[in-house]
Amino acid sequence: MSETTVRADDRAHVFHSWSAQGLIDPLPVKGAEGSYFWDYENTKYLDFSSQLVNVNIGHQHPRLVAAIQEQAARLCTIQPAFANDKRGEAARLIAELAPGPLNKVFFTNGGAEATENAIRLARGHTGRHKVLSTYRSYHGSTSTAIAATGDPRRWANEPAAVGVVHFWGPYPYRSPFYAQTEEQEAERALRHLRDTIVFEGAGTIAAVLLETVVGTNGVLVPPPGYLAGVRAICDEFGIVFIADEVMAGFGRCGEWFAVDRWGVTPDLITFAKGVNSGYLPLGGVIISDEIASTYETRPFPGGLTYSGHPLACASAVASIEIFKEEGIVEHARAIGDDVIAPGLAELAEKHPSVGEVRGLGVLWAIELVRDRATREPLVPFNAAGAAAGPMTEVAAACKKLGLWPFTHFNRVHVAPPCTVSADEVRQGLSILDGALEVADSYYSG
Ligand SMILES: Cc1ncc(COP(=O)(O)O)c(C=O)c1O
Repeated sequence: MSETTVRADDRAHVFHSWSAQGLIDPLPVKGAEGSYFWDYENTKYLDFSSQLVNVNIGHQHPRLVAAIQEQAARLCTIQPAFANDKRGEAARLIAELAPGPLNKVFFTNGGAEATENAIRLARGHTGRHKVLSTYRSYHGSTSTAIAATGDPRRWANEPAAVGVVHFWGPYPYRSPFYAQTEEQEAERALRHLRDTIVFEGAGTIAAVLLETVVGTNGVLVPPPGYLAGVRAICDEFGIVFIADEVMAGFGRCGEWFAVDRWGVTPDLITFAKGVNSGYLPLGGVIISDEIASTYETRPFPGGLTYSGHPLACASAVASIEIFKEEGIVEHARAIGDDVIAPGLAELAEKHPSVGEVRGLGVLWAIELVRDRATREPLVPFNAAGAAAGPMTEVAAACKKLGLWPFTHFNRVHVAPPCTVSADEVRQGLSILDGALEVADSYYSG
């Protein structure tokens, strides 16, 4: 099919996510491999966004493609009430990777449904209704998941599902608590959470829902002690701790699950994206023995036609095996520590517009400012149109030089596949080096 036809069909018939349909011009993509994808003019882009930070294994991994083909030839689908070999194997492998007594998996089609069902599990288990989640978070676009979301994508969906209360999580660079150190930030953020719980009524709160490392809303890595403190507060009040690892899990943060870095065990973990790199739609909730036992004799009030879809589960089994055999989680951690961290530190030294770089594994943010002293963001919060101009120009400069960046508000995120090579990272950072000159031209500090 020609590029013209692909574009014409798209413009005439595809209704796109999050977009004013008449104001977009989606790039027709012809193919992809490893850390790259390319268009119909064979312009290659180094994928520093892993699409939507989900293609952790890289594009078109041959063994993963073969496993899907093999399963498609054997058994494409069977409904969720039956036992199926790949469904059971995927659940076992995921439970084996999860920390502590999290031994059962409810499969969904993606991250939003994982959020919905984690909240449903917590509400049924506690008999309470409220959910606490943070500002600067994203949990999906279905009704409860978007209500839990703490970013502007929620606004147009309001009035949203009832019972969600937002609080502030830690963000040392722009501390909501006027903290000067990471220790202060953790301590004050925990006091704020505890106060919020007390004033909302601990007995009304089913769950605290957190992205272990906040993804799209800033790559906010929790300061030491914060997650352990959240765990302790949840225990004190009998509240379910849900860790949203849809973006942070499966190698992205240089761990199987980001919580592993801090040795913290939540009651529920949501996952999607990296579990099978989106080769097929798949997500789910990993459930503690205690919460699972609530539903031992009482029916769980939720279900999906495609829960535990055999083709999707076969791809998860194959992906986990490939991750283990090829040491992909360890690779992601080493690339982060040895190549991305020092490379970004160099960019920060060279470009005045870089206010801060932060991250871990293959999930990093470059926070751009107009003034390092005041930390005024390069573009205002939630800027659009002309107000977002400087960021649009930075992104355009990257694309022109063959790098597909992930940008959000005043940040450029560095989120290549977990399989990215050191040379590819260096190539991408050198393109960013050029593009950041655009940001520097707006610097006024
Ligand atoms: C942290 C987090 N949770 C949930 C979701 C929702 O996942 P999905 O788009 O698969 O519904 C996302 C998607 O970006 C995410 O980043």
